Amino acid sequence: MAAEIMRLDKYLCEALGITRSEVKPLVAKGRVTVDGQICKKADLKVNPAQVILVDGKPTSYQQNVYIMLDKPQGIVSAATDARDTTVVDLVKDAYPRRQLFPAGRLDKDSTGFVLLTDDGNFAHDLLAPRRHVSKTYLVGIDTPLTQRMIDGFVAGVTLADGTELAPAGLQGIPGDPYMTRVELTQGVYHQIKRMFGVFGAGVVSLRRVAMGGLMLDSTLGAGGWREITPEELRLLRPNGKSESTDGQTK
Ligand code: URA
Repeated sequence: MAAEIMRLDKYLCEALGITRSEVKPLVAKGRVTVDGQICKKADLKVNPAQVILVDGKPTSYQQNVYIMLDKPQGIVSAATDARDTTVVDLVKDAYPRRQLFPAGRLDKDSTGFVLLTDDGNFAHDLLAPRRHVSKTYLVGIDTPLTQRMIDGFVAGVTLADGTELAPAGLQGIPGDPYMTRVELTQGVYHQIKRMFGVFGAGVVSLRRVAMGGLMLDSTLGAGGWREITPEELRLLRPNGKSESTDGQTK
């Protein structure tokens, strides 16, 4: 991701979590240095890679945030909702100036890994079917898993409305014929429920446990969240591959 160029006062607002009118006197009084020089020009263009000090203390600015949330049941996967609590409501007090949204949806009654970010390009890439970033779910069903379901998922299910889905992974969990593991690379509305529905099975529980090569942190607990580290972010590239400096995945 290229470093963002922005005005010094905007940078300071973001880095210090204060308003532009609070930033103004800091700059005017010469309390801000950029790469060692006092700077009194609030509209100077800076990038977050420069060394920007206030009263001699370093500042830092994160261009975007990436959060892993363990969504509880009953919470809506949206940025805002007139009636229900949303996934963004669970974290927004910690990020008052960020426009966070969920990258991909989980149904209200589903639980598990929701990624919240303010990085639109990243979210787009994460969800694009052609990028093949997988999403893995533990799914409880109301009839025992059959080989016909497994073969059907792998071949690509055609939904009741005629939608032809990409091949998906379906595995049993040893010792429990009602518990399955599903891997998808696309996100159609109610997809897993509708896929099992084609085989006459109902979904009784649905939990997303991984996105790409990144597992949901099992220590978070329902409603718990934390930022995703830069190393973990790399696991969210297509097939968990690393990216070389020329931008080509390898
Ligand atoms: N498929 C569903 O049916 N529901 C979800 O929440 C996710 C995938």
